[in-house]
Amino acid sequence: MLAAQLILNRYVTTIIRGIREETESIRCLELGDPDDWELPPFSPGAHIDVHLTNDLVRQYSLCGDPSDKKRYYIAVLADRMGRGGSLYIHEKLKVGDALSVSLPRNLFSVASQASYHLLIAGGIGLTPFMSMIPALLQSGQPFHFHVCTKDRTHTPFRAQLDGLIKRGLVTLHHRGRGADTGLDIAQLLKVQQPNAHVYCCGPQRMIEEFQTTTRSWPENNVHYERFSAESAVGNAYTLELSKSGRSIEVMESETMVSALNRNGFAVRTACRAGICGICRINYLEGKPDHRDHVLSDEQRRISLMPCVSGSLSPSLVLDL
Ligand code: FES
Repeated sequence: MLAAQLILNRYVTTIIRGIREETESIRCLELGDPDDWELPPFSPGAHIDVHLTNDLVRQYSLCGDPSDKKRYYIAVLADRMGRGGSLYIHEKLKVGDALSVSLPRNLFSVASQASYHLLIAGGIGLTPFMSMIPALLQSGQPFHFHVCTKDRTHTPFRAQLDGLIKRGLVTLHHRGRGADTGLDIAQLLKVQQPNAHVYCCGPQRMIEEFQTTTRSWPENNVHYERFSAESAVGNAYTLELSKSGRSIEVMESETMVSALNRNGFAVRTACRAGICGICRINYLEGKPDHRDHVLSDEQRRISLMPCVSGSLSPSLVLDL
């Protein structure tokens, strides 16, 4: 109850002021305060949790200019293989609807001390960069933005990107010309000036290629953001439930929350991506494999998010 209260308190109500179809599968929502007051400020690269229904909370990067105090913009790709949030936005929401959103949080901020910023995006992964670019332009910091998409018609924000292409600040890469994404990240990062910072947001394979390529880079100069937390599935382990005295086996390739639900313990979930905080439970013994983006180090000493987290020890004792 307390956890739910805290989560509700972090939300502000917005109204959908406009909807723009960026491509046939990406729509951009313009959100404003119901009385047109200023919205809570955000920094470049920040995201918000969008509260779609009681059980549906999704995380989206803010893709507007942070200096615009009255509007949030989010761009959403309709994902037919996804978990339902994007289709809800595409099929149910209309201009004038109210939408609760969290205060902006930032796990992908722009480094303040950099000689150069190299930005790499795959598909809908370009959204956080759309809030970074206005800030970089305003501060006069040098950057280049590489955007990988299927083709030009599947590229959102084309008008903005075209203007930046003319200024030599953006390069578009389309699939079908060599590598999978159309961009050879290893080649691109071969020569970079000292104290350059590199950033990547895109599909899993792109992030993996980026991580491999930047392994020898100074850790502080490398930044990436995944679309959601990566679930810790893969190894089996046992959950000991201290209050009920029961033992539950979590199978290989099964999430903790699925194992609990399968055994009759209904854990409330919303995002199932380690970002909303709703499924939080406490543990008493064992070593969790934390994969969420919501708990602090301090909180991780007693709590875990079973929708994405697993176990590094053969068993975990839960306070259930
Ligand atoms: S359901 Fe959102 S963090 Fe687990």
